[in-house]
Amino acid sequence: PPPPLTDAFGRNVTYLRLSVTDRCDLRCTYCMAEQMTFLPKKDLLTLEELESVADAFIRRGVTKIRITGGEPLVRRDIGTLFDRLGSRLGHGLDELTLTTNATLLTTHAARLYAAGVRRVNISLDTLDADTFKAITRRGDLAQTLAGIAAAKAAGLKVKINTVALKHQNAEEIPGMIAWAHDQGFDITLIEVMPLGLTGEDRYDQYIPLFEIRDRLEQKWTLTDDTARAADAGPSRYARVAETGGRVGFITPLTNNFCAGCNRVRVTCTGRIYMCLGHDDHVDLRSALRDTADPAAALNAALDRALRGKPEKHAFGIRARAETPALPRHMSVTGG
Ligand code: GTP
Ligand code: 5AD
Ligand code: SF4
Repeated sequence: PPPPLTDAFGRNVTYLRLSVTDRCDLRCTYCMAEQMTFLPKKDLLTLEELESVADAFIRRGVTKIRITGGEPLVRRDIGTLFDRLGSRLGHGLDELTLTTNATLLTTHAARLYAAGVRRVNISLDTLDADTFKAITRRGDLAQTLAGIAAAKAAGLKVKINTVALKHQNAEEIPGMIAWAHDQGFDITLIEVMPLGLTGEDRYDQYIPLFEIRDRLEQKWTLTDDTARAADAGPSRYARVAETGGRVGFITPLTNNFCAGCNRVRVTCTGRIYMCLGHDDHVDLRSALRDTADPAAALNAALDRALRGKPEKHAFGIRARAETPALPRHMSVTGG
């Protein structure tokens, strides 16, 4: 069998984040600008190409695939992609999942479950309708909550992702945790990262998560969840005694977690980005489209990508009006 995907720092890549579109029906102020220029549809990988990419990674030991965007559910043929990738579950693939804003989950939740999806990560930054409108610029909280309820009703395990924003939701976070735990959901807090211009200054949005944790500990008893799986990812979890639920902390700015990185990202145009915080990438689309033996070309491209996987990112938000660390928006690589 082909060798596993091991990088120069001895890290094994077993987790692929596969973006299927750069588009989204929302415009969250930390993620996108109000006016975005999206890629022409002809540049996107087709369903068949997305399957070939997934299979190339599965052959090299990837056991977990997360479909991302933009918002993955705005892609028209997305149900078919889940059906097809779902057929790889139990044949090398252990988990097929997605990260979504939930606006279209009322339509898609049951189909996702039928395709083999069991967990879904949902972005939700507030439970206040006006704040929701302000953060997402064009969302409707009721529709998002209906999507979340549909996921739960379909049998999907839900995890909520909340980007901590100093002036918009920091005060509200204990209430969101109580709500999530009451619903039986884990919730993960995320420090805002400086990726792409959005029309808002991230200096004004950023709040370090240790400040939030200090506030939580004045109210609740938090115990670190030390039983971490080898492929646990960047989130560090704590259990809240009073609610019985778990809260995760993703701290790219205050506490780098890259030593255990197990993932790479592929964009909807077929570029592998080896790190969220670097611009280095390798093009897979030419390997798929312009070669006689695509499987061999994909393998060679994966080897080249892995050799160049950076050790870590170096995000920082130190001053007002600083240009973002990278011009690329989060919606290009799906987080
Ligand atoms: P689980 O499978 O539930 O562990 O999910 P996950 O944390 O891998 O995926 P999710 O899409 O929920 O990620 C949440 C957010 O965490 C992303 O949107 C990013 O903002 C951040 N994140 C995830 N992986 C990385 C990473 O490797 N580096 C950095 N800097 N941030 C990451
Ligand atoms: N910093 C941190 N998280 C971000 N997300 C989008 N942009 C950023 C950013 N600049 C998160 C969303 C969602 C996931 C896809 O990425 O909230 O949970
Ligand atoms: Fe869309 Fe997610 Fe970005 Fe919000 S964070 S604009 S929901 S891709």
